[in-house]
Amino acid sequence: MSTTYDVVVIGAGPGGYVCAIKAAQLGLKTALVEKRPTLGGTCVNVGCIPSKAMLHASEMLVEAQHSFEALGVDVGKPKLNLKQMLAHKTTTVEQNTKGLDFLMKKNKIDVLRGAGKIAGKGKVSVTGEDGKANEFEAKNIVLATGSDVAGIPGVDVKFDEKVIVSSTGALEFTKVPKKLIVVGGGVIGLELGSVWARLGAEVTVVEFLDTILGGMDGDVAKQFQRMLAKQGMTFKLGAKVTAVEKAGSGAKVTFEPVKGGDAETLEADAVLVATGRKPFTEGLGLEEAGVKLDDRGRVATDAHYATNVEGIYAIGDVIAGPMLAHKAEDEGVAVAEILAGQAGHVNYGVIPGVVYTSPEVASVGKTEEELKKDGVAYNVGKFPFSANGRARSMQQTEGFVKVLADKETDRVLGVHILGFGAGEMIHEAAVLMEFGGSAEDLARTCHAHPTMSESVKEAALGAWQKSIHM
Ligand code: NAI
Repeated sequence: MSTTYDVVVIGAGPGGYVCAIKAAQLGLKTALVEKRPTLGGTCVNVGCIPSKAMLHASEMLVEAQHSFEALGVDVGKPKLNLKQMLAHKTTTVEQNTKGLDFLMKKNKIDVLRGAGKIAGKGKVSVTGEDGKANEFEAKNIVLATGSDVAGIPGVDVKFDEKVIVSSTGALEFTKVPKKLIVVGGGVIGLELGSVWARLGAEVTVVEFLDTILGGMDGDVAKQFQRMLAKQGMTFKLGAKVTAVEKAGSGAKVTFEPVKGGDAETLEADAVLVATGRKPFTEGLGLEEAGVKLDDRGRVATDAHYATNVEGIYAIGDVIAGPMLAHKAEDEGVAVAEILAGQAGHVNYGVIPGVVYTSPEVASVGKTEEELKKDGVAYNVGKFPFSANGRARSMQQTEGFVKVLADKETDRVLGVHILGFGAGEMIHEAAVLMEFGGSAEDLARTCHAHPTMSESVKEAALGAWQKSIHM
């Protein structure tokens, strides 16, 4: 038996490593358990970070192919060097994981390498690659084990990560598939589908719902789908996938209309299955410790991230709420503060969501559909980037900003942006909403000219009074 830690965090993804840093900053003796060779979890190793490297690089290729000439930049005919693009992705990941090693040292956090498991009250065992287990004492345990690919309920999908792939394999194709089928028109399907579409694949997205990005503001989802279709992606909506199988050197996907009708089968060189993720709870000793799960297999917690077992907490994808890295990070901070005797909390009403496609989609707060369902009276302000000077100068005129404000109080209830830089612009709305601001507050805030962000101000003006430039 070795050191007694104030906190042992299991899982070094954005939730876990941020929790460990905050706990250490608050003076708690902290250890972080991780079974991958590198820190950062799914997000840094095989998710958010590598996908953004591929998204950016593939966008640059399309820019060079289609936009440079009109801007007076002659570079000859740009061509893809996939090997270098993948190397850029790998370097980006390495820079981030090395950065995390540095942060652990800086904050004097003990990194315990191996698979962590609750081994009794206040005890965590860590099994290394050699199969040897070491036990550590912990006054508090934070489960931050994240999530895993869910697959398709009722369908036996045999992932080989070469032909039938999850997001992990879709970041590793060494050759551009001529045809790629994407099962699921959610965030992963559209981000990674659009990468390979830009690199030359014929991409077909098969989606169960009648819309892509289910849960997003309907206005945004509709226009976004039109843009992706213009970029060459094909959509089969209202289609339920019933089989994904290998076929020769490729694969085939069978689906049937949700409303009833004949099944259809499509063949392709590769299939990306992106139908959601499930909380990762296996092998953690939860049952033995008596930790309760909810009806969807997530670790059940109270408002303070405490499970039903004293001294055991949980955060991130393994508990309820959106499976987003930044939600996990904020919960990591909150639980560390709570363990240090402070009042940590997360405002779940103001968690931005960003889809890092080209153009980006970003939103915070309620959608128009949700407000209608809740019977809330609201004003809408909408401003297109086609009326924004900076957007024109950058040839980025697609999309719009939409501000939804309470009809009575003018308080901003939701902001939705489709367009270049949406993922950055959304944060002024998030800050405003965190402080309970109104459309008038946003409209009266001086915005630098010329910027894309002026469209946020104009949309706020539209919700409060009238836009100036429209
Ligand atoms: P998702 O839940 O966003 O989308 C899955 C889609 O698959 C849904 O639209 C669903 O209707 C569809 N689907 C399910 N079963 C189907 C069937 N049998 N046939 C056809 N379609 C079917 O899940 P996704 O894209 O796999 O992402 C997983 C998680 O990771 C999400 O929680 C997402 O928010 C998160 N994520 C977030 C990112 C971001 O914030 N930029 C990037 C990547 C992932």
